[in-house]
Amino acid sequence: MRTLLGPEGDLREVYAAPETPWLRVNMVSTIDGAATGESGLTASINNEPDQLVFRLLRELADCVVVGAGTARAEGYPPLDVPLVVVSRSGRVPEALRDAEPGRVLLATCSHAPGLDGARAILGDAHVLVLGSHRVDLAQLKQALVDRGFREILCEGGPHLLRDLLDQGVADEVACTFVPRLVSGAHRRITDGPPIDVSLRLHTIVEEDGTLLGRWLTGS
Ligand SMILES: NC(=O)c1ccc[n+]([C@@H]2O[C@H](COP(=O)([O-])OP(=O)(O)OC[C@H]3O[C@@H](n4cnc5c(N)ncnc54)[C@H](OP(=O)(O)O)[C@@H]3O)[C@@H](O)[C@H]2O)c1
Repeated sequence: MRTLLGPEGDLREVYAAPETPWLRVNMVSTIDGAATGESGLTASINNEPDQLVFRLLRELADCVVVGAGTARAEGYPPLDVPLVVVSRSGRVPEALRDAEPGRVLLATCSHAPGLDGARAILGDAHVLVLGSHRVDLAQLKQALVDRGFREILCEGGPHLLRDLLDQGVADEVACTFVPRLVSGAHRRITDGPPIDVSLRLHTIVEEDGTLLGRWLTGS
């Protein structure tokens, strides 16, 4: 176990991608496995070390991928890098509808009820149709790489993380464990039908009682 006392420069080394393209999912959890706290959002469980990692990983990313549920719940605004919203329904979250062209992409499928609306809002070039009834996440990763995005950061949420793992698309799960217990009925960092995915520990760092971990999916 290493204690991270150094400046943010050190943290950059800790989180360097081993190769590119690289798709990392970053999540936060309490010690009893809650992905949200009493507000129903991550803001009620995250802490300073987690926010440091969250900001750093955004800085390192060429684009950020997020499930539409998380974008809606957390009120995601457009970011400094392109934001890719994954949605089966094809509905563009309200807070992203006025974004500058190209700041927001939507990944959806051809049967999405909101497809025509999404094209009207974001422009055809920014709506990625990747499958008929479900979004093919491997195709999504390739489409992002084809657009020049080498370091791809996914910020969840739990359903999208589960699907990325199920479809073998995530290279890394970064998870920060905050030293809290909240009990109650909260989501875990994965949600949806069962999966059984083995991970390999890459790094674990302790910062002020918080564990910053990186786990890799490949062999
Ligand atoms: N602890 C953490 O690190 C963390 C991180 C992120 C979010 N959260 C929390 O998680 C909660 C949201 O959970 P959630 O499971 O609903 O989040 P989510 O996975 O972001 O949202 C689910 C929705 O996203 C779209 N989606 C997800 N996976 C998809 C796939 N494979 N293909 C097509 N569309 C897909 C669908 O949107 P449509 O309905 O538009 O089809 C689906 O209804 C919020 O409370 C948020 O605060 C916690």
